[in-house]
Amino acid sequence: MRYKNLVLAGMATAFLAISCATPSNDIDRKVDELLSKMTLEEKIGQMNQRSGGAELCDEIAAGQIGSILNCVDPNQINAIQKVAVEHSRLGIPVLVGRDVIHGFNTIFPIPLGLASTFDPALVEKGARIAAEEATANGVRWTFSPMLDIARDSRWGRVAEGSGEDVYLDCQMGVAMVKGYQGEDPADPTSLAACIKHFVGYGAAEGGRDYNSVMISERSLRNTYFPAFKACVDAGALTLMTSFNEIDGIPSTGNKWLLDDILRKEWGFEGMVVTDWNSSGEMIAHGFASDLKHASEISVNAGVDMDMESHGFARHLAELVKEGRVREADIDNAVRNILKLKFKLGLFDNPYVDAEAAASASYKAEALAAAKQSALESAILIKNDNNTLPLVKAKTILVTGPLADAPYEQMGTWAFDGQKEHTVTPLVSLKEQYNVIYEPGLAYSRDLNTSNLSKVKAAASRADAIVVIVGEEAILSGEAHSLSNINLVGAQSQLIATAKSTGKPVVVVVMAGRELTIGRDLPNCDAMLYCFHPGTMGGEAIADLISGKANPSGKLPMTMLVDAGQAPFYYNHNNGGRPNNGTETLLMDIPIEAGQTSLGCSSYYLDSGYGPLLPFGYGLSYTEFQYSNITISSSEYSEKDTIKVEYDLTNTGSKEGTEIAMLFVHDKVGSVVRPVKELKRFERVTLQPSETKHCEFTLPVSELAFYNIDMKKVVEPGEFELWVAGDSASGEAIPFCVK
Ligand code: GLC
Repeated sequence: MRYKNLVLAGMATAFLAISCATPSNDIDRKVDELLSKMTLEEKIGQMNQRSGGAELCDEIAAGQIGSILNCVDPNQINAIQKVAVEHSRLGIPVLVGRDVIHGFNTIFPIPLGLASTFDPALVEKGARIAAEEATANGVRWTFSPMLDIARDSRWGRVAEGSGEDVYLDCQMGVAMVKGYQGEDPADPTSLAACIKHFVGYGAAEGGRDYNSVMISERSLRNTYFPAFKACVDAGALTLMTSFNEIDGIPSTGNKWLLDDILRKEWGFEGMVVTDWNSSGEMIAHGFASDLKHASEISVNAGVDMDMESHGFARHLAELVKEGRVREADIDNAVRNILKLKFKLGLFDNPYVDAEAAASASYKAEALAAAKQSALESAILIKNDNNTLPLVKAKTILVTGPLADAPYEQMGTWAFDGQKEHTVTPLVSLKEQYNVIYEPGLAYSRDLNTSNLSKVKAAASRADAIVVIVGEEAILSGEAHSLSNINLVGAQSQLIATAKSTGKPVVVVVMAGRELTIGRDLPNCDAMLYCFHPGTMGGEAIADLISGKANPSGKLPMTMLVDAGQAPFYYNHNNGGRPNNGTETLLMDIPIEAGQTSLGCSSYYLDSGYGPLLPFGYGLSYTEFQYSNITISSSEYSEKDTIKVEYDLTNTGSKEGTEIAMLFVHDKVGSVVRPVKELKRFERVTLQPSETKHCEFTLPVSELAFYNIDMKKVVEPGEFELWVAGDSASGEAIPFCVK
């Protein structure tokens, strides 16, 4: 550990240098020049990523590690870079990665909550802030955005993505890539994005993480690829392979994905990293016989860097000598890695001003953006009798295990969020109301109902009750799938207790997924669904409850009646016996009913067909009316652009923001097409009684899909479109493509 002492001694030293970008046109020359000096072992060292800090310095000095993850101490990173630059033979700086998923220190709503804002500009701003905080600490690579389309809320990682819709996924992913990377990768605040997990990880059977995935090529191309392609086109610098196998082929060893599609078809020139030991896990998959074989498969499929399997470091030299891996492929991988390091300006300056790092976080602008994101991510699910905003209440009872839970409020993948900075709803509500606080339950899974009587007693002194429930952060995220997604613990009982008092009951949900809260809706007068809202969630929730702000968020996933309905999503195919809405439910069935007496359509006898709430659903404290929806023509050619105009009126008494959506349906195709697909959305803010004339433009070319011949084409025929506030509303307007 020769260098550990150096690192420890060096820690106090702040390294200041002004970075200047290496002009991109001569990066290739510099890379080839450096590559020509490298031994095979040094090349392999660049392909090896390890988790850790100073304890890795001997290996870094020996040129055996090209990247580290999970070290965020700027002093330690400076010292590690000093060892790499001054004590390794070729002085190649280290690439420092971290999961900066929804903020670095200032934590924003979880990505599923960010998707609920339908506000790409705000999401881009949040990613930029995350980049500024992370890079100030020496981190230059984030393993984000997660682009996995997710249609099953049992999967814990729905928290980390943008939900079920392809277009929303594309918009959110591109916004994050742009926010993280900024205009110039060489800028010291540029954080290399890593689009993940390529591909299909969110389609794990049963919503159980890491489970098998079966997706056809056509579904990959029409549903799971688009956001990755959009982000590649937006300049994403890196990509991460996924743990799962598709039709028996693990993504980390899938040459068709990593070479034919990613490199040859899409022209991706960035760097490909595995997920954590996803190379080594091909042994467990039964796709590799041992780590050496797994490493051979990964490199030959197109992987550049190995996260924590140690297989590349241990076996690649041997594999090259045995002719099982070509050194030319090693060279290509190392080129991709070195190009990234040159692009990020790491060869000019790998150091940060460690003394200034802390002041880069929790700035007023960051907190304001985090609060705005929390405000816009909140979805008003129910608001009977205009219970919200609570304007008449003077004294409120605040109860529930998430009312004052600063750690839980940040949600999953908030490694560097400091709970001391979290503003909880309890703290903020106390600034706007006389608050009686009676938690009722100690944590979300708490089954101890002995304190519910205190809640009931306290209610007598309150004008209204705010019940803040949901999930502890640990109940969503990686490896945290649930087969039952009702509120855990005795939370539903807590809500019922509040209801029994006869006082107005407002429920606020903080969760990592869309829970099946249908059973709880009858026991409350209003419900705000906030996902895990991050550092400033409390202030946002208090402002929404008091009416200082008006909810505008909309569901990024179809909200289920029961987990048994999953996977359920609005952009589904129709099937041959679509549900006709006239379903007979379990207890309506006569005794000795005839076998065919219930009809034969696609639904559940015990939970019906429809979801609880549709994709895009979300109420406001005001009302909106769509009118005068017109289309520029009833007939288009492929080269045309569809123009849809509509008037949107705020018919209520409060300022509000509506997220208007444009959906399209291709009625007949050479393969069946989804009953509806989101193609545009926009946020429209209106004063009371104000009407805005709005429009969507949609090139007909964007109606293209991979057809029966696996060609991406627009097929002539009949279409229909909707302009509405969610996927279940509006009137169809026909048009055709000639
Ligand atoms: C994890 C996750 C991946 C993350 C990586 C590094 O297992 O699957 O999303 O970026 O390892 O933490």
